[in-house]
Amino acid sequence: EKGGYEHFMLKEIHEQPRALKDTLLGRLTDYGVELQEVDLTAAEVNQFHKVYIVACGTASHAGLVGKNLIERWARMPVEVDIASEFRYRRPLIDEHTLVVVISQSGETADTLAALREAHRLGARVVAVTNVVGSSVAREADDVIYTWAGPEIAVASTKAYTTQLLGMVLLGLYLAEAKGTMPAEKSQALIAAVRELPRQAQEVLDQQEVIKKLAQSFIAVEDTFFIGRGLDWAVAMEGALKLKEISYIHAEAYAAGELKHGTLALITEETPVIGLATQRGVYEKTISNIKEVKARDAKVIGLTFAGNKDMHKSVDQVVYLPETLDELAPILTVIPLQLLAYYVSVARGCDVDKPRNLAKSVTVE
Ligand code: BG6
Repeated sequence: EKGGYEHFMLKEIHEQPRALKDTLLGRLTDYGVELQEVDLTAAEVNQFHKVYIVACGTASHAGLVGKNLIERWARMPVEVDIASEFRYRRPLIDEHTLVVVISQSGETADTLAALREAHRLGARVVAVTNVVGSSVAREADDVIYTWAGPEIAVASTKAYTTQLLGMVLLGLYLAEAKGTMPAEKSQALIAAVRELPRQAQEVLDQQEVIKKLAQSFIAVEDTFFIGRGLDWAVAMEGALKLKEISYIHAEAYAAGELKHGTLALITEETPVIGLATQRGVYEKTISNIKEVKARDAKVIGLTFAGNKDMHKSVDQVVYLPETLDELAPILTVIPLQLLAYYVSVARGCDVDKPRNLAKSVTVE
């Protein structure tokens, strides 16, 4: 059942190239995207004043990437909320709001309650889910299925990367309807998206490098994951993975914000994972990494293969295949999943069933 892997998590990490490929199947044309279960006309999209993304846990981290992409591409304002907070906030939504709920299982009670609240307030609801016929899929107006296949390990991996792809597809769909993306840009994006399954495999091929890096985390108590923009969103997911399955405290921080408060917590005992894929802020991120190096932190850097100079600023670098900045999260998170996995194994934790957590939480 584990297909020769020691744990479901490792199997599911390795299924990502296939899961990404399946999630793209039949959805890309040369010019745009086709979403079979989404029935939003351009006129309907144009009457939305904003987008509200609601989810829990890992799915909410996919939502943060979605916000960045939809705002960037479709120029629509996007809010992201945690489902358990959303309902009690008396959210400002109405029939001019597009609510997007993201849920691997489609059964998370908080997310389902948020969906119902959104409907009560008159919003249109698109669900991004991995389970056909789940409650969320049935109750939403439109569905974007992630074709990750069953995810057994409590810590989400392939569901997250396919949710990210769902955000890419939705972002392109909305941008097309709004007319906010030049044809050359969407063609370049689509061409780059098609490369992702192969590139995800290239990242997985570096597994042994990550396994080695993980050994130095056995006795660690605190870590920071830092980055800017989309790297910051991925940092949150990387930190969550490490916390969930290895019980090491990890904090995700916007790289530029460290100096406004928590830089004092960084010492030689606090390894830092520095994510630097976003080209527009690369130099700035490197400066922030130098700030933590100055506090004697050991830094593992993640960047594109072209940024060979990064090794001068950090202790170790994991290089990623080149893609467009917007698509980087799908590749960047893979080494972080592997890191969490190998640290968990090295610390003797129960990787697939971490303490106190359930795969799907059906109470609020
Ligand atoms: C949690 C799981 O409680 O539910 C997380 O432990 C998951 O891994 C979260 O991200 C949300 O689940 P779902 O099924 O709604 O995506």
